[in-house]
Amino acid sequence: MSARPFVSFVGAGPGDPELVTLKALRRLREAAVVVHDRLIPAALLAEAAPDAEIIDAGKAPGRRCIGQSEINWLLIDRARRRGRVVRLKGGDPSIFGRLAEEIEAVLGAGIQFDIVPGVTAATAAAAQTGISLTARGHTSMLILATGSDHHADGIAALDWALLARAEATLVFYMPVQGLEAITTALTAMGRDGRERALVVEGAGTADERVVAGRLDDIGARCREVGVAAPALLLVGPTVDTAAVPVAVRHLTAAEA
Ligand SMILES: C[S@@+](CC[C@H](N)C(=O)[O-])C[C@H]1O[C@@H](n2cnc3c(N)ncnc32)[C@H](O)[C@@H]1O
Repeated sequence: MSARPFVSFVGAGPGDPELVTLKALRRLREAAVVVHDRLIPAALLAEAAPDAEIIDAGKAPGRRCIGQSEINWLLIDRARRRGRVVRLKGGDPSIFGRLAEEIEAVLGAGIQFDIVPGVTAATAAAAQTGISLTARGHTSMLILATGSDHHADGIAALDWALLARAEATLVFYMPVQGLEAITTALTAMGRDGRERALVVEGAGTADERVVAGRLDDIGARCREVGVAAPALLLVGPTVDTAAVPVAVRHLTAAEA
């Protein structure tokens, strides 16, 4: 008989298999089924039991998309049939991860769940560039925003006036497509175009790249070098302190 149905929403971190919690590893090793996002490190999936069913629910470009309702169905179906399911999500499951919809589905089916937090891309990018996202005397507020909005063409429907005047570190997830529209919206609403801005692509992965610039030129700089997702845009007072040379230098295995 299979174990009691249970779904764990587990944070897989930003792509470095070492940036996961011990609890995440335990959940993975105990899972009968793992339903995972795109860009999950293979080394992490290798932690699952040899007989675990591994389902790739990632939405890779050019591949058939598993829709959200199919993912919800998979979680419920596999939990009922196999017991322990791990829903492995990039970064932290609760940040731009459609976690709320999956919790609603699982709860609606009467299945219990837990959440294992993960290292979100914003903190991974801050670590890689040597900045503190909050800093006494500089900024005591951190805003995580989405740079794109699947309900609309172009950039997200955000309160751009508020973002422009906020004395905060701003971190935009999914900014690549609308990068110049985002920076223009901020400066049009009064944010200083000379403010330092950073784009971190693939933070914490072997493919990491950091592009530094100002709010008014970061879009063009990223276009020049062809920055692609996954990437983050960071803007704010503490971004000035970024130790970018450290970030762009890749440590050798012996140094790491
Ligand atoms: C759907 S959101 C998921 C965010 C995730 N739940 C988290 O906490 O990091 C995907 C976006 O996260 C950002 N992202 C994820 N991993 C990243 C990484 N290693 N480096 C930079 N940005 C990353 C990118 O903006 C990407 O488009």
